[in-house]
Amino acid sequence: MTRVVSGIRPTGKLHLGNYFGAVKSFLKMQEEHECYFFIADIHSLTTHPTPSDLHCNVKQVLAEHLAMGVNPEKCALFVQSDVPAISELYTYMNMNAYIGELERSTSFKDKIRSQKDNINAGLLTYPVLMAVDILAHHADVVPVGKDQQQHLEMTRTFANRFNHMYQTDYFKEPQAYSNTGKLIKVPGLTAQGKMSKSSGDTDTLIFDEDEKVTRKKIMRAVTDNGPSEPGMPKSEGLQNLFDIMELVSDQSTIQYFDNLHQEATIRYGDLKKQLADDVVKFIEPIRAKISHFKQDTHALQKAARIGAEKANESASKTLKEVREIIGFKKF
Ligand code: ADP
Ligand code: TRP
Repeated sequence: MTRVVSGIRPTGKLHLGNYFGAVKSFLKMQEEHECYFFIADIHSLTTHPTPSDLHCNVKQVLAEHLAMGVNPEKCALFVQSDVPAISELYTYMNMNAYIGELERSTSFKDKIRSQKDNINAGLLTYPVLMAVDILAHHADVVPVGKDQQQHLEMTRTFANRFNHMYQTDYFKEPQAYSNTGKLIKVPGLTAQGKMSKSSGDTDTLIFDEDEKVTRKKIMRAVTDNGPSEPGMPKSEGLQNLFDIMELVSDQSTIQYFDNLHQEATIRYGDLKKQLADDVVKFIEPIRAKISHFKQDTHALQKAARIGAEKANESASKTLKEVREIIGFKKF
């Protein structure tokens, strides 16, 4: 049976990037495989949330998973901090991770730039905790967006190093996975890279947000002055809008606007209006379900409880075996 693990940090509301990069694959994987999907609340501590924000965000992201169709009966949907074995494995795994390789990780370098006044040790060892999340359940595949590719490589490095150090083949090598066959990066609306919870309010298309706000963000998305002659290449901002269209619009709609662009007769206002309609149509039913699940304390509690049971069973087994391999023995 293929084992699947993935996590999402509760640092804000979920956006289209999270859905198409990760959650959409969860929906497919839960039908066929043994899946562990979790809310990465320990990871989110690197951003120093207040206790009430932390709780609120975990609840939000849990409700969002349920609303999107992640089914706690078909997978283990759990909160990372409900599984103490993870933190203990993290301590052990930190001994086999070298400062140099951690400092070279792109996500660490990005954080050094973006949060200069909070470069904590948790940021440096983030890839170790992520590796533990994955290895604790012996994942074969990890559904993630393209931005997580390097973390997956590091996970394989740590797994192999552990095996080599203890002369064992205990951990296997997990592979990044996307339901589309290719890891994807959903762009933001301000032509500044990937859509991300931390990239600013005007950049992200969030599920749990008023329709009017969604429309306004799209109408204000960064484009250019328009093609001055037929056959011109698309600017980055414009290409981003077409990329988002690929996710939510019909092929015929995309072709229609692509032709207008080729002929240099396109009006960006029309393109944006169409995109806004299609995004809202896609988001709306999920948004309604998020509101429903946020009120349904019983469903949230039940999901987190059965998820924690399943995840604890699997991670405790790994912890026990790792302790034996390392050489911790009872007197
Ligand atoms: P964010 O970057 O918004 O804080 P997370 O880091 O918690 O989101 O990512 C959760 C999952 O969503 C990961 O698998 C990540 O690869 C995926 N993801 C996030 N943003 C994007 C994006 N713009 N395109 C594709 N996948 C994404
Ligand atoms: N690092 C991931 C992100 O920022 C979230 C994450 C934490 C994760 N642990 C994981 C993803 C384990 C997949 C598997 O997007």
